[in-house]
Amino acid sequence: MTAPEQGQLATRRGCPVNIDLVDPDTFTDGPPLPEFATMRDEAPVCWHPNPGSSGEGFWAVTTRADIEEISRQPEVFSSGEEGAILSTGSREQNETQIEIMRLLMINMDPPEHSDLRNIVQRAFTPRTIRSLEPRLTEFANQIVDRALAKGEGDFVKDVAAEMPLLALCELMGIPGEDRAKIFDLSNRLIGFDDPEFQTSPEDSQLASMEMYMYANELAAEHKTNPKEDIISRLLKAEVDGGRLTDEQFDVFFLLLAVAGNETTRNAITHGMQAFFDHPEQWEIFKTERPLDTAAEEIIRWATPVMQFQRTAMRDHVLGGQTITKGERVVLFYTAANRDDNAITAADTFDVRRAKNDHVAFGGGGPHFCLGANLARAEIRIMFDVIAERMPDITQTGPPRVLRSMFINGVKELPARYTA
Ligand code: HEM
Repeated sequence: MTAPEQGQLATRRGCPVNIDLVDPDTFTDGPPLPEFATMRDEAPVCWHPNPGSSGEGFWAVTTRADIEEISRQPEVFSSGEEGAILSTGSREQNETQIEIMRLLMINMDPPEHSDLRNIVQRAFTPRTIRSLEPRLTEFANQIVDRALAKGEGDFVKDVAAEMPLLALCELMGIPGEDRAKIFDLSNRLIGFDDPEFQTSPEDSQLASMEMYMYANELAAEHKTNPKEDIISRLLKAEVDGGRLTDEQFDVFFLLLAVAGNETTRNAITHGMQAFFDHPEQWEIFKTERPLDTAAEEIIRWATPVMQFQRTAMRDHVLGGQTITKGERVVLFYTAANRDDNAITAADTFDVRRAKNDHVAFGGGGPHFCLGANLARAEIRIMFDVIAERMPDITQTGPPRVLRSMFINGVKELPARYTA
């Protein structure tokens, strides 16, 4: 539907639960799944005020069908207008921030977005990702070697964080000695609501500048010593047209460091936690190795990115509510991934699940996660090697959750590594 229905402008359905979805404290014990269930069942598109701030409210969207409808119509629901990252201040307060954010492809609309995406897609072809797999397997084995030698420790640091970092560095050809620096910077970039990852409110911005400068040096180095790798393919003009400018490259690198690290790390950690919580699924996984379906289920179960926002470019009726031009909609992927109308027995963790229409990588459309196949490969390979080499891994303490309303993150998961 595109036109507002008669009489609907007057009624704006509020959320059926009393919850503040912009307050990071709401998520300190993990996502509020019971509240999301009530919202999905009673008011799948509902108005959420922005309590405690001067910012405008937004429409909270919690079903898969509605998230797909929004994601696939970028001309109606813009990522560029106010950015895709949910902000709490008023539009006026955020204007400068939005201007900067628009440099990232995730905050762009077609056709600008399509041009850029066509170029960066070169780094993520199925062939490129497949060619990385032997190296990913080597990495997984090295990670497990180190964990076994340690005997016990924090699964997040020892295992989950290592894989995405190594994979990304491999993809982009980053030398080994710089990897710890990229790890630290990506932590500081995204953990902005969690005091543990941040020394001052400006630190996140500082980290992004450092990352930007690092990318700049990397590009300069590739220009002086051209190589046959991804970076050169992105920077070099090609027959099929287009290349990244130095500035576009730096910004893209920054986006990858954030989008590729934190997300996959949390998927691996939540996956391990899910296996600890469902030992029968771990047994199935170990004996049958349903690698593809298990990786997909882990991603759904984890839903590391809890939401993104869009802004309506014209009035649009969704779920019986009129979204007025200029209003924001927030796509709660976490809620949609437990939507029983889209996923059979959605509250069950099932590594053999054959049909898994989750939206953890987005609801389709132009922004669908660029790194989805890389993330899948990392998760598949990591768990295959864990099952093979430390099948009796056990949890030794409670997890510590990241304080964030955006990333479903785990900071620490104590574990014993047993061969
Ligand atoms: C389990 C891991 C991951 C999850 C859950 C995830 C999730 C997402 C989501 C929800 C989006 C937005 C989709 C939309 O707006 O429709 C996205 C976009 C993106 N992701 Fe991922 N991601 C993951 C891993 C990765 C990896 C490994 C990389 C790269 C190395 C990556 C790079 C990107 C980029 C560049 C975009 C922006 C695409 C665009 O705007 O066109 N992601 N991801």
